[in-house]
Amino acid sequence: MKYLHLSDLHLLGSDRPNLYGADPRLRLLRALESMLIHHADADFIAVTGDLTNDGSPEAYRHLAEIAAELSLPLLPMVGNHDDREAFAAAFGEYLDEEGFVQYRRDLGDRSFLFLDTLVPGAPYGALCKDRLAWLEGELKQLRGREVHLLMHHHPIPFGYGTMDSKADFRSAGEFWEILGRFEGVRHIAFGHLHRNLFASHGGVTMHCTRSPVFQLAYLPDAPREYLTIREAPAYGVVECDEQGVRVQWHEYLEEGDLFVGEE
Ligand SMILES: [Fe+2]
Repeated sequence: MKYLHLSDLHLLGSDRPNLYGADPRLRLLRALESMLIHHADADFIAVTGDLTNDGSPEAYRHLAEIAAELSLPLLPMVGNHDDREAFAAAFGEYLDEEGFVQYRRDLGDRSFLFLDTLVPGAPYGALCKDRLAWLEGELKQLRGREVHLLMHHHPIPFGYGTMDSKADFRSAGEFWEILGRFEGVRHIAFGHLHRNLFASHGGVTMHCTRSPVFQLAYLPDAPREYLTIREAPAYGVVECDEQGVRVQWHEYLEEGDLFVGEE
């Protein structure tokens, strides 16, 4: 199976035309166009949070309209820039009974759990008691199956000063303890760091994908917080089979520069 990974769309309301000189809506449309040309056979498109920059209800409506027209299912999650209520007004079908944006999709022998790490008003993320219990309950039910997790916040520190101190994932202890008790979790896709990167931890592999709009610079000694860099946007292509998981990132704005190289 194959899924496509988008993250950190940072969509805006019509009162603000661009973010750092880029129009997030156009960047999203270019990504979707590329996906439909090259990966129309994908099973779904996952968007790991920060759908909007400031929780604009209008931006969620736009995204829901775009999703309704797509030939691939677009599966949304919330990040620290999102507003759960405004999200719910456009994407109510993704909320569980407690009002969290957490749900599961089963495809063949694999299950995908979409987690909600949003703490309203905070840059950091966490899973409260209820959300941890949901994760544990799902993993219990899914014993014997291959499980993939998708979430906004980075599940381990990556060496980014601010992102690892003020904007970190505060439930990492309980989270990894639960994963350690259930062996089915194979891979985690996340966002928040606005970078293409790979890691493994406790036998679980994980990756993050750049934003369509702006990226964070990995310069551990940089003096400023949230150091942003104009690198090319990308989406991830995640392929899973009985051998394992393969992730490739496509810098879709550069597609016009394709040429046939020498052998
Ligand atoms: Fe973000």
